This record gives sequence, C-alpha cells and structure tokens, in this order.
Amino acid sequence: MGSSIFGAALDFWTRGSGAFFTRWLHILVGITWIGLLYFFNFVQVPSFAQMDPAARNNAMDKLTWRALWWFRWAAVATVVTGFVLLYFTEEYKPDFMKTLPGISISAGILLGLTMFLNVWGIIWRKQKIVIANARNVAAGGEADPGAAAAGRQGLMASRVNAIFSIPMVLFMVGTSHFPYAAGLPPTGGKRATFWAVFVIVWAVLELNALGLLGGTKPGGIRVIFDTHRNALIAGFVYALFSVLLFAYVLA
Ligand code: HEM
Repeated sequence: MGSSIFGAALDFWTRGSGAFFTRWLHILVGITWIGLLYFFNFVQVPSFAQMDPAARNNAMDKLTWRALWWFRWAAVATVVTGFVLLYFTEEYKPDFMKTLPGISISAGILLGLTMFLNVWGIIWRKQKIVIANARNVAAGGEADPGAAAAGRQGLMASRVNAIFSIPMVLFMVGTSHFPYAAGLPPTGGKRATFWAVFVIVWAVLELNALGLLGGTKPGGIRVIFDTHRNALIAGFVYALFSVLLFAYVLA
C-alpha cells in the first residue's frame, strides 16, 4: 500500500502490520491483567488485613467485585490476543518451536496459560464464595464456615500467579529481545533437558499452590505463599533460575 497512489507512511494491510497492532493490544490487555494481579497481591491483601470487618466487607462488595471483572476479562483478552499474535508473527514456521525464540515463547505461554487457568478455575471461583459471604454478613446473615478456606485457596493461587508473572514476562519479551548469542540452534538433547527441568519446577510450584502436594497450611515449601514479600522474592529467584537454565542448558 505504501507505494500506491494514495501513499502511506505505514504499510497497513499486511501480516506484519497485523502482528504489530495485535502486539500493541496484547501488551495493553496484558498490563491491565497483571497490574490488577499486583494490586490484589501487594495492595489489597495487606490493606484488608488492617481494615475492620465491616469496612472490609463493604470494600469487597464495591471494589473487589469490580476489580475482579476487569481482571478476569483482561486475562481472556490477553490469551486471545496472544494466540492471534502467535498466528500473525511471520517467523512462526514448523520448526520455530525448536529455535531459541520458539522455546522462549513456549515457556512464556506455559506460564501464561497456567495463570489464566488459575484465574478462572481457582481465584474467581473462590473469590465468589468470599464475596458472597461478605455481602451476606453485611446484610446481617450467618457467616459461611467455608469462606476462610476458600480465601486461603484463592490467595495461594493469586500468589503463585504473582510468582509466575515474573519469568512469564521475561520469556514473552525475551522471545524477540533476548541478547541471543550467535551459535548453532539447540540440539534435541539440550531441548529435552531444558524442558524436563523447566516443567518439573513449574509443576512443583503449581501443585503446591493448588494444595495438592501437602495441603494449604503455611510453612515448608509453601513459605513462598505465606507473605507477598516471600512471593515477590520467589518470583525473582524463579526468573533468574529460568533464564540461567535457558542461557546455559540451551547453549
Ligand atoms: C497466555 C497466553 C499468551 C500467549 C499465547 C502469548 C503470546 C505472545 C506472543 C506470540 C508474543 C510475541 C512474541 C514475539 O514473537 O516477539 C508475545 C509477546 C508478549 N507478551 Fe504474550 N502471550 C500470552 C500471555 C501474556 C501475558 C499474560 C502477558 C502479560 C503482560 C503477556 C505480555 C507480553 C509481552 C510484554 C510481550 C512482548 C512484546 C514484545 O517484546 O514486543 N503475554 N506474547
């Protein structure tokens, strides 16, 4: 189009342009999702712990409920735009997933999809129980004895998402922007080693967050879910571990 008689500074009707605008939308909805995730983890949870029960119940009804709407639909939009972007990005040839950028995006998508399932499968379902209880108690009803356990399960899923988000964005951005060393593409053996280690660590973290490797009680390996500070440290350690694995196992 750029050379047509109409002239244009941007080559709009091309696959590359589709990739560009989808990338923009993907980042826009992605920051909406992850921004709210950080709000819940680093602002709302510690604030609620300091609020008196009546104020907290009111905030859950008016604020958390709204924030959760944007949160879970931004998660849907991120996954949808992510897969459209995958389709549009031109270098996605059959062997792409064997290259360093292909491994990077696969690792990012594994973490991103797990986070998406945690949002819809755990966080939203448990928060509905917690908020229904807050509304009921505010209206003078009986407290739900299961609400505290639901709150704990939702909190653990939310904290594992905060942990996952840190390496997830690293691999998303790294796909096109890691400072790749010039070298041969990784061999099948190296790729197998990378994936075996990466998947085991991911599975141990996720199964723990779901309470499937020793319940939901604090302590033990679940110390990483005990405070938002611990989750933040765990996220950076996990990102560092993952990027070193990527850099040295695949070299
Ligand atoms: C869960 C499903 C997801 C899929 C299928 C997906 C897919 C993709 C794809 C295909 C790319 C382009 C990689 C490239 O070729 O440069 C990308 C980049 C990116 N994604 Fe995702 N993504 C997902 C989740 C997320 C989430 C949750 C975020 C949160 C912020 C996110 C943020 C980004 C960012 C910041 C980039 C980098 C853009 C760039 O470097 O130009 N993605 N994603």
